[in-house]
Amino acid sequence: MRMSVIGTGYLGAVHAACMAHIGHDVVAYDTDAAKIAALSTGTSPFYEPGFDELLSEVLATGRLRFTQSVQEAVSGAAVHFVCVGTPQSAGSDAANVEYVDSAFKSVAAHADCPGLVVGKSTVPVGTAQRLTAELAATPSSHRLELAWNPEFLREGKAIEDTLRPDRLVFGVASESAEKTLREVYGSLIDAGTPHLSTDLPTSELVKVAANAFLATKISFINAMAEVCEIVDADVVMLSRALGYDDRIGARFLNAGLGFGGGCLPKDIRAFSARAGELGASHAVRFLHEVDKINIRRREKAVAAASALVGGDFLGRSIAVLGAAFKPNSDDVRDSPALNVAAAMHLKGADVRVHDPKAIENARAKFPTLSYFDTAEQACQGADLIVLATEWDEYCAIDPVAFRSVVKEPRLLDTRNAIDRDFWSGAGWQVYALGRGGLNG
Ligand code: UDX
Repeated sequence: MRMSVIGTGYLGAVHAACMAHIGHDVVAYDTDAAKIAALSTGTSPFYEPGFDELLSEVLATGRLRFTQSVQEAVSGAAVHFVCVGTPQSAGSDAANVEYVDSAFKSVAAHADCPGLVVGKSTVPVGTAQRLTAELAATPSSHRLELAWNPEFLREGKAIEDTLRPDRLVFGVASESAEKTLREVYGSLIDAGTPHLSTDLPTSELVKVAANAFLATKISFINAMAEVCEIVDADVVMLSRALGYDDRIGARFLNAGLGFGGGCLPKDIRAFSARAGELGASHAVRFLHEVDKINIRRREKAVAAASALVGGDFLGRSIAVLGAAFKPNSDDVRDSPALNVAAAMHLKGADVRVHDPKAIENARAKFPTLSYFDTAEQACQGADLIVLATEWDEYCAIDPVAFRSVVKEPRLLDTRNAIDRDFWSGAGWQVYALGRGGLNG
């Protein structure tokens, strides 16, 4: 099927390549010349495991093209996927939907045949109905219908999540729209992917509700970590014991530095803001607490680091391992790791940062921190190592070899990622958030 993808950020670029991979003829559009140039030559503008390979594979088939001409993308397409961002608005918690609005307008202006415009962006509930009305009022010689098909992909697992998703959700207003989406995802449905069709507002809500639930689950275990810290209990064991209960489940129950990135933080805020507009603030008031618990983890990490270096960061050298908001990503948007690094720097520490993939993005955001090419360089002469993003390579560090690299063999594991006993056995003082013995 011939389709357009509007927006080649994380979501759009991966979606376009995956659609071409399953046999569709895709033209993807973006206004960003550098992005289009990179993608056209098979180079991903962001780090995502396996994406460069997938891009090269589908570009070679001729089924995927990138363009800066919206007309070229939209012309002749039966389906248009809108994959633009909905960042947090400046000065407010609400989502900024201006890019979604203008993407729908562009498709309507350039469509030269009947088609289905499918929103994938995360939007405030009610957006699809508003856009449906606007689309109907737009003079066009061809009938365009609107559907919503929320995306649940995780960074670092984006290809797997797109080609083998947990579920497909179709927000549709007609049988023909549903039929079209079933055709688009035919091979995934044949492979057994659960799929459900529902109305437009429910489909929008599925996405925000899923992210709100995941954020709540993480903040729940981090709230338990706060209690563990007071009574010298161990949140890792607590989480493990809770996770065996099928009704609770072990996933997204890792206590640590909390959630960051381009989705969970802004999505729970946007959900609260939208609920306020709808007169339903009371229903999601708990999300404010979820947010506060999450931010408190960063403060706790800074306080713990301070206590570990004697209560004063001035003149102290702190190695921060990790800048990305999570491993297998170069994304530093609202990164807990980087926020903790910056906060310690602000208090006078010499902060030395390493990340396997996110250094350039981190440097652009916090140019005054020091960045190093290897973890070993960052740890040189450090009074304390703060493990802030649980990349595999950090978990594989040999504590015996690193003993001679640092000034003081002292580690704060904010992600509960390393084997404490192993490190302690190698002569390190090891502290972990939520595991007792740390009242900084
Ligand atoms: C999230 C949703 O998972 C995805 O479905 C949606 O499409 C986009 O938002 P993503 O932002 O890529 O995906 O990251 P995710 O894997 O959800 O992790 C979010 C944050 O939570 C990270 O900072 C991670 O370190 C943190 N996290 C995750 C925890 O602190 N504990 C956990 O147990 C799990």
